[in-house]
Amino acid sequence: MTTAATQSPKREAFGSRNVFILSAIGSAVGLGNIWRFPYVAYEGGGGAFLIPYLCALLTAGIPLLFFDYAIGHRFRGSAPLAFRRMHRAAEPLGWWQVLICVVIAVYYAVIVAWAGMYTWFSAQLTWGAGNENDFFFVDFLRSADVAEVGVSTEFVPQAGWPLIGVWLVVIGIMALGVKRGIGRANMILMPLLTLMFAVLVVQALFLPGAMDGLNAFFTPNWEALADPGVWASAYGHIFFSLSVAFGIMVTYSSYLKRKTDLTGSGLVVAFANSGFEILAGIGVFAALGFMAQAQATDVAGVATSGIGLAFIAFPTIVSQATGGSIIGVLFFGALVFAGITSLISVIEVIVASLQDKLGWGRVRTTLTVSVPLAVISVALFSTTTALSVLDTADAFVNAFGIMAVAFVAVVVVAWMLHKLPVLQEHLNKRSSFPVGRIWKIAVGGLAPIVLGYLLVTEVIAKVSEPYGGYPVWFVGVFGWGMVIALVIIGILLSLLPWSRRSHAKDDPEYDEFLVVEHYAPDPETGAVRIQRSEEKGTVA
Ligand code: ALA
Repeated sequence: MTTAATQSPKREAFGSRNVFILSAIGSAVGLGNIWRFPYVAYEGGGGAFLIPYLCALLTAGIPLLFFDYAIGHRFRGSAPLAFRRMHRAAEPLGWWQVLICVVIAVYYAVIVAWAGMYTWFSAQLTWGAGNENDFFFVDFLRSADVAEVGVSTEFVPQAGWPLIGVWLVVIGIMALGVKRGIGRANMILMPLLTLMFAVLVVQALFLPGAMDGLNAFFTPNWEALADPGVWASAYGHIFFSLSVAFGIMVTYSSYLKRKTDLTGSGLVVAFANSGFEILAGIGVFAALGFMAQAQATDVAGVATSGIGLAFIAFPTIVSQATGGSIIGVLFFGALVFAGITSLISVIEVIVASLQDKLGWGRVRTTLTVSVPLAVISVALFSTTTALSVLDTADAFVNAFGIMAVAFVAVVVVAWMLHKLPVLQEHLNKRSSFPVGRIWKIAVGGLAPIVLGYLLVTEVIAKVSEPYGGYPVWFVGVFGWGMVIALVIIGILLSLLPWSRRSHAKDDPEYDEFLVVEHYAPDPETGAVRIQRSEEKGTVA
């Protein structure tokens, strides 16, 4: 047992289950929902995409969401601590997830900052009608070609200062802690986001041409279902969208009280996330329908996703629509709010891990983590080559890194450590919706097969031609190099000793947490008695 002098600070907690649910939805609903899903669905067969999407959600998204919840809640720690408590040798998995979050955080903040600037630009139509493309690449980003200039260090102030602003806001929220910072931020931002998005979608639906957009979005192309790539994109999308497999849900669920309905909460989160995605599809395609009509072309000619959708197509819509400024402010404002609530969840994975490993207090850990992250983010992404670095890091670490760590995690937990029965029992002990054998088959059987297939096809695709047409050295450093480095650094971090003040060992709070109360009638008197039993040995 730790002595009072070396005991680490008490573990933080969400104020209530509802705050947890809202924060988990806040994490899930992000850029992936707004700018990625609509196009993935449109390309993957429109209305017909609902079939692979629902399959991916039900067979991989929700089962892995429960898997993350069970790990975080049962082993009550940040990703490295939870995996270490499961088995000492599993700790690197947690650090690998933390490092994925490091990479995502440094570029996710950049997109939030750009969206913040575009909220402002929308109000004044700063880009000038017809000049949206050049404005973004030349005037705003001052983009340079990495093949010509290498990785630039030239500071671009109009992109750099808002980025510094985003980091200051996020550091402020993180320093306040789980309950007063993350919980409260979500309590304020999520209702605002929902309201703004609802108004935006209604406004988009009234634009001329909106119905053409919706037709393009919903008309089913059944032939697409025969393409394995469409199924792969449905499964690939669901992990990032639900924020599963990179430590977020492990961390958030570790802040829950012992008696919490985990699966019931998970279903609310998953369906809220999907609802938001479909709403985003309706809003985005209604707006694209308008754009197509205004340019006398078809929706296929204007449909796009990601950076192209947000920073080129949407500004064009804003320039052309009556009341366009309002559409722009709502759209970019929604991106900022959805982005911030996701970004804080990504950073929390890192902060919580160091807090656990070092036993430090909240403010000290937040500053130690966030200031270097902010410096890297500003140094790499306030320059003229920001877009290329962002695009490559996202393509490799997001699409590829998350699937790789998810694959290794399910294989290790299900097949090497045989922990699925423990996790299943834990979920069922406290939940309204019990999980059965199907859950174990989904996590231990189906998930490794699907993830393995996705990984192999991704590797083949990325090896066969240099990603994005960038120079080989560039993809080597910011793509492959980054993906491999994360695994190696993860292993090294797991070798560092845990501080004497950390939660890793002899944590009385954790021991207490594992004591389960059973309410059983006394066989002789019939009176209800409380029996206490302990779950079996887990402290690493
Ligand atoms: N789940 C978050 C998103 O969709 C990370 O952007």
